[in-house]
Amino acid sequence: MAWNPDQYNLFSDHRLRPALDLLSQVPLISPYVIYDLGCGTGNVTALLSQHWNEAIVTGIDSSAEMLATARSNHPSLEWKQADIANFSPTSKGNLIFSNAALHWLDNHETVFPKLLEQLRPGGVLAVQMPNNFSAPSHQNLYDLAESPEWVDKLGPLVRPAPVHNINWYFEFLSPLVEKINIWETTYYQVLKGRDAVLEWTRGTALRPFLEALDTAEAEVFEGQYAERLLESYPVRQDDSTLYPFSRLFIVVQLPEN
Ligand SMILES: C[S@@+](CC[C@H](N)C(=O)[O-])C[C@H]1O[C@@H](n2cnc3c(N)ncnc32)[C@H](O)[C@@H]1O
Repeated sequence: MAWNPDQYNLFSDHRLRPALDLLSQVPLISPYVIYDLGCGTGNVTALLSQHWNEAIVTGIDSSAEMLATARSNHPSLEWKQADIANFSPTSKGNLIFSNAALHWLDNHETVFPKLLEQLRPGGVLAVQMPNNFSAPSHQNLYDLAESPEWVDKLGPLVRPAPVHNINWYFEFLSPLVEKINIWETTYYQVLKGRDAVLEWTRGTALRPFLEALDTAEAEVFEGQYAERLLESYPVRQDDSTLYPFSRLFIVVQLPEN
């Protein structure tokens, strides 16, 4: 799917906070080889590079649009266009970091072990994924896409929730690693302006649905979705909207040998 870096970065402050919370839990002093998977516009990659300024940090993303912004904002860092599903670097990582990207991949029972194989002994995999697929922001989108008016064109785009529950990751990953730190947080995000939640999803979940429609259809679909969102997330008198957003965090470390 095509990404729009400017739309995605409209909420960069809210989107950055979980990345900082994840970074604060990485139990490494001086990782040398770091990969940022699904790096997007590279804001988080740059933070990793500032945090460990001796490290070789590479941002990896499948989107040419996102990487173009990353390259232009941070020309001194390494950027590579690739699919996370095939991630197999020549030099294994001390740290593989992935903020808000792995939920775009299915089959986590295959994805996670493959990522662990790309770590050196003592290496860390640190992952944050949205876990709000049943929240009204997403459920309204899926319900509308599966309604009689849209199901032919949009029904096939509704995926089963890609993120498992926290117990699943704990049970699945514990036998594969030495240490596991796993938690969930709901951020109560205060967004400003009319249609604030619509603006948020325009940068992410809504994109594939609009891309599947022509311009006139996309306008109608978006209008219907916007109405549902306003019912679920009423705008307050001061023009703010409270948008709760749950995120799942996983930090695992391999044994030293
Ligand atoms: C929501 S953005 C997150 C960007 C960045 N990590 C951040 O925290 O700002 C998700 C990114 O994952 C990338 N992505 C999704 N699926 C991918 C895949 N299979 N391989 C590589 N990148 C992928 C998208 O292109 C997008 O840039």
